[in-house]
Amino acid sequence: MSGKLRLGVNIDHVATVRNARGSAYPDPVRAAKLAEAAGADGITAHLREDRRHIGDGDIERLAAELTVPLNFEMAATDEMQAIALRHKPHAVCIVPEKREERTTEGGLEVAKDENRLAHFIAPLADAGCRVSIFIAADRAQIEAAHRIGAAVVELHTGAYCDFHYEGKFSERDAELERLRDMAAFAHSLGLEVHAGHGLTYETVGPVAAFPEVRELNIGHFLIGEAIFLGLEASIAEMRRLMDEARA
Ligand code: PXP
Repeated sequence: MSGKLRLGVNIDHVATVRNARGSAYPDPVRAAKLAEAAGADGITAHLREDRRHIGDGDIERLAAELTVPLNFEMAATDEMQAIALRHKPHAVCIVPEKREERTTEGGLEVAKDENRLAHFIAPLADAGCRVSIFIAADRAQIEAAHRIGAAVVELHTGAYCDFHYEGKFSERDAELERLRDMAAFAHSLGLEVHAGHGLTYETVGPVAAFPEVRELNIGHFLIGEAIFLGLEASIAEMRRLMDEARA
């Protein structure tokens, strides 16, 4: 079951740098094309309600110009649904944007909003988008994601990575164990399992080794590392570490 582990590269923070100066560069679409050339299996971009990094024009260009699949991260709002239905990206990932939409661990609170989310994702799935829900590694959230008809759950690895960098290794290992168990649980329900948030060269290996995980979405670290290594080398090293962990 283990199969190839896909790498989705999140290019949001190229747009963060661009927007910090209100300039036309650096161009996130150029970064996406370089990421493709460096072996990214997909490009992830989050159109936030406040457009703090990626803008509507970026999504238009990504949808038109990419040759690898586009994973469109979005909040569960009517505005974002309309944009997704216009572009019909390969995948959409529903993420929380407001505090009240989050579980304590940071993923989307699906269990308390099942009805609305089931109606929200149905037209996206009907339009051919692979619908993913970004959730904490929590049994109740996974069961709810399954009930509403999501094809994929993306497990939030932020807490695991934070514990690692805070030197809280027993909490980190407990969180990793929880991620491992919940990846297996989600897979047993027939959900495709992805993971992401905060992953780095130091933290990616143990998550990449979970046989049920099919895709990792990684952005902030790769874009930061690109300052030192260049984007292609930054991505190539992540790809190498993922393959090594998988092997
Ligand atoms: N997956 C999801 C659902 C996200 O929202 C993000 C952050 O935008 C990522 C993965 C990538 O996280 P990071 O930029 O910390 O690697």
